[in-house]
Amino acid sequence: MSEKWLTGRVIENRHWTDTLFSLRVEGAQLRFEAGQFVRIALDINGERVARAFSFVNPPEDPVLEFYGVIVPEGPLSPRLAKLSPRDALYVAPNPAGFLVLSELPDAETLWLVATGSGLAPFLSILRTETPWRRFRNVVLVHAVRYASELAYKELIGATPARYVSFVSREPAPGSLAGRIPAAIADGRLESAAGLPLTPQSSHVMLCGNPQMLRDATAALAARGMRKHRRRASGHITVESFW
Ligand SMILES: Cc1cc2nc3c(=O)[nH]c(=O)nc-3n(C[C@H](O)[C@H](O)[C@H](O)COP(=O)(O)OP(=O)(O)OC[C@H]3O[C@@H](n4cnc5c(N)ncnc54)[C@H](O)[C@@H]3O)c2cc1C
Ligand SMILES: NC(=O)c1ccc[n+]([C@@H]2O[C@H](COP(=O)([O-])OP(=O)(O)OC[C@H]3O[C@@H](n4cnc5c(N)ncnc54)[C@H](OP(=O)(O)O)[C@@H]3O)[C@@H](O)[C@H]2O)c1
Repeated sequence: MSEKWLTGRVIENRHWTDTLFSLRVEGAQLRFEAGQFVRIALDINGERVARAFSFVNPPEDPVLEFYGVIVPEGPLSPRLAKLSPRDALYVAPNPAGFLVLSELPDAETLWLVATGSGLAPFLSILRTETPWRRFRNVVLVHAVRYASELAYKELIGATPARYVSFVSREPAPGSLAGRIPAAIADGRLESAAGLPLTPQSSHVMLCGNPQMLRDATAALAARGMRKHRRRASGHITVESFW
């Protein structure tokens, strides 16, 4: 079935590091819920190559924003990183995804837990009013390899969210060392956030590296938490980036 692609135009391509970039794109109007993604595409050697990207912008913002990492051997991400203002890219007309607050049960504390570019959908969520209306506490947890990869700190700092960062491959003052699942298991994440991480108090949204999703889900299961389903309410919602 042929698909009706929208054509967007790049207005900014900000590079945070050699491998991390944020694209701002105008001209493609879409309806979506914060936390969702859309496929974006370029024509490469006569073929349209599309990949899912989470919105970073809140739904009411007409300029779309995407946050990406260059996977050197990947076909699309290195090319997206090279786009300049006024370059065109294709945007699919149908945003999708279940990493959204409307799918979540009520809880006292909402934990938004990301590795790498998995931060993207949580930025969109933090830029809406819903988390502050629905949850007493919101904790954003972001794990990266190097401190320079802790992007969007200013935006995050301007929200009421408690922010806990992990830097795994170098010492970094102000960030926890190691990985998220170990810090869930040994209580370091709770201490850093100053909040209990229990089935009674919490709902956890996880996004990014699939191995992190599995390991973190296991660490949360050891605390009595389980995946949330529409028909069986739980405490964990996940979105895998690959
Ligand atoms: C629902 C969904 C939402 C997504 N949202 C984003 C987003 O907001 N930002 C973003 O950068 N990517 C996101 N991705 C991943 C994205 O779709 C691409 O896979 C990625 O941009 C790499 O594209 P590629 O064509 O260069 O390589 P691909 O052929 O797609 O991937 C090659 C390999 O690179 C690794 N990889 C892929 N994506 C990532 C990543 N994000 N971080 C680290 N390693 C990765 C995996 O090992 C993968 O097998 C999302 C994926 C899904 C399924
Ligand atoms: N970040 C870079 O320096 C860099 C440079 C060039 C290219 N890339 C490309 O980007 C991809 C990786 O991107 P990324 O650094 O954003 O993502 P990533 O490899 O998922 O790493 C992000 C964070 O997730 C952690 N993590 C990895 N596996 C985990 C698990 N099972 N449980 C818990 N935490 C886990 C990492 O810790 P650990 O450090 O302990 O693994 C790191 O802190 C690579 O495939 C590569 O192609 C990245």
